[in-house]
Amino acid sequence: MRLHVVDHPLVAHKLTTLRNRETDSPTFRRLADELVTLLAYEATRGVRVVEHDISTPVAPAKGVKLTQPKPLVVPILRAGLGMLEGMTRLIPTAEVGFLGMIRNEETLQASTYANRLPDDLTGRQVYVLDPMLATGGTLAVAIQYLMERGADDVTAICLLGAPEGVEHVRRTVGEDASVQIVLAGMDPGLNEVGYIVPGLGDAGDRLYGVV
Ligand code: URA
Repeated sequence: MRLHVVDHPLVAHKLTTLRNRETDSPTFRRLADELVTLLAYEATRGVRVVEHDISTPVAPAKGVKLTQPKPLVVPILRAGLGMLEGMTRLIPTAEVGFLGMIRNEETLQASTYANRLPDDLTGRQVYVLDPMLATGGTLAVAIQYLMERGADDVTAICLLGAPEGVEHVRRTVGEDASVQIVLAGMDPGLNEVGYIVPGLGDAGDRLYGVV
């Protein structure tokens, strides 16, 4: 399992504004969207392509195109939805599946409540979108689920992570798994209710309001 914390001044700038409690929901949504596109650029460095011959107006040329089947993007509901546009802007032809996961706020255990995915993910490259990698419970369950269905390469794109969460995912999927985590920032740890500190609060609430 590989971890990549993106080190770029624009990413740091947008993340700082996201963290700010004064940032309202419309601005938060727009910035999350922009930030995901920047992270997606880094996260898709290993996206699979095949050679593709074309003709320019001047001469034949060799290039590449995305392999079939196309990459699958899976936002984790609800907060991952706020990352979907930013990702599909970069890979408009990607397929999109959905996983609804909820965390029990007392036990911090994750469980699946909705699933709209292709049945067979054999050989698929999958990009999971989940803004907060806190305890890692949700992401670990989601990645395992995708790999059990046949996905052979999974990249998780998160806005913020904590070391506990990264280690939990690493222990669950195994050191040798073809899994990559891409973060805009890594914070020092979690508080007693499993929130990332200093973090940015509840990502779902900041995107969509408290419901
Ligand atoms: N989920 C969030 O939205 N924020 C956190 O800090 C942790 C989990």
